Amino acid sequence: MTGAAPTSWTRCDRTAAWAALGGHWQAHGRELDLRDAFARDAGRFASLSFDAPEVFCDLSKNLIDVATLRFLVDLANECGLEAQRDAMLGGAAINTTEGRAVLHTALRAPKGAGPFSDEVHGVLDAMLDFAAQVRRRADAPGAAPLRHIVHIGIGGSDLGPRMAVRALAHLVHPRLAFHFVANVDGDDLATTLAHLAPAETLFIVASKTFTTQETMANAETAKRWFVASGGTRIDEHFVAATTNVEAAAKFGIARTFGFWDWVGGRYSLWSAIGLPIAIALGADGFRALLAGARAMDEHFASAPVARNVPRLLGLVDVWYRNFHRFPTRCIAPYAEALQRLPAYLQQLEMESNGKRVDRNGDALPFATSPVVWGEPGTNAQHAYFQMLHQGSDVVPVEFIVVREAALAGDDATSDALARQHRMLLANALAQSQALMQGREGGREPHRHFPGNRPSTTLLLDRLTARSLGALVALYEHRVFTSGALWGIDSFDQWGVELGKALGGALLARLDGQAGAAAAAIDASTAGLLGKLGA
Ligand code: F6P
Repeated sequence: MTGAAPTSWTRCDRTAAWAALGGHWQAHGRELDLRDAFARDAGRFASLSFDAPEVFCDLSKNLIDVATLRFLVDLANECGLEAQRDAMLGGAAINTTEGRAVLHTALRAPKGAGPFSDEVHGVLDAMLDFAAQVRRRADAPGAAPLRHIVHIGIGGSDLGPRMAVRALAHLVHPRLAFHFVANVDGDDLATTLAHLAPAETLFIVASKTFTTQETMANAETAKRWFVASGGTRIDEHFVAATTNVEAAAKFGIARTFGFWDWVGGRYSLWSAIGLPIAIALGADGFRALLAGARAMDEHFASAPVARNVPRLLGLVDVWYRNFHRFPTRCIAPYAEALQRLPAYLQQLEMESNGKRVDRNGDALPFATSPVVWGEPGTNAQHAYFQMLHQGSDVVPVEFIVVREAALAGDDATSDALARQHRMLLANALAQSQALMQGREGGREPHRHFPGNRPSTTLLLDRLTARSLGALVALYEHRVFTSGALWGIDSFDQWGVELGKALGGALLARLDGQAGAAAAAIDASTAGLLGKLGA
């Protein structure tokens, strides 16, 4: 199943639809005024908003019309998007530069339904059993029940679990505290350990490769701390999630939950890397997360492109990046619980699609990944929304709105919290309305809001494990869509290698190894090394 060459594809700029889109942009697209578009077409909201599992998507405040979408759909067809999608779902080695299949969707397929089902469900069952044991240990009345889970990992081995455990905090086991340590800066680990006791703490060392410098350094230091603070049972207090079982064993970890090279780091929260999520939510919660993602996978696989929300979002991304040339996109979750979602999406989108050559290695004559950034609303309104409303760049904004508050409060606070949630909703809608409508400043130009600034609203009914799973899978497939049109390998990350290699040589210098790397060092770096005492 794996190893097969991916199916044929055509790069977007080599299609007739690309040229047609260029003509459409010149003739209508760049001039489109959202206010006029709504005034002309009373059905605009109905025709440009779409249902996907768990997520309602309003595209109507974007700089598109039905004709734009038709051209974009033509583009998807000419690029062979469906064949590329089927190649991914079928296990072809679409990560061509690493010769790997891309099968994170197999991790959320029900037993017997996806590729590698026996392996996937074997690990899933073992991981969920272990999560249940940990939850029982947290409930045990004994002298030292488990209280703290410290997850050590970085990048894809950190961002997903960290984001999801925070997003679903209202569903987390009440007697367990979750800590995430990623940075090689010892401050991250030291401040975490400062309040912990070894007997109450479980460490999860999460690394696909089990070689990543930051994770190995933090894990080694954590082990030292554990022993020095009187911890005795490393086998009970350290577990690993990795594809490199041998290296984990060498580290001294007896219990390892494995996964496979066809799970990319930034697509791995559904695998053993999601162990903290499973411990936090329990088996039913983790299975609900997978089920939500699975529902989105089915939508992506089968809904016609004109109503396929991840595909439409990916197409609009291409429209904005390559025709409007918007360099960034702002993510604005109007949910404090989603505070880590923008960081998660930064890796998902920019590590996947931040590439300047296509799969054949040919230089791309067009731009790829935008810079993705953001913070939860309403905080963001009091920071950089000024620039979104009146700055010199147009930044498409993505509002993520949750209809019902996760926390109801108690007798003393429930009414006030319900009202606060209505304030939150009003703010989200007001911002997208203001971006679009603008306001004349009259004789005061600094009070002028140009308007016609695009936004998308993604609406969830509630923040549950299922809806979060669907939302994240929606983003995964959207990133796949734009990457497939651009003809790039969205699943490698060679761009992180050079810095790692140079860092090794510089560390040798900082460690005081005589003569290390001196020859290759430029004058600026050498000068800075001197300032650092090396
Ligand atoms: O930053 C590069 C990267 O390889 C990411 O793709 C990955 O998520 C992260 O490092 C962590 O890698 P690992 O899980 O192997 O420690």
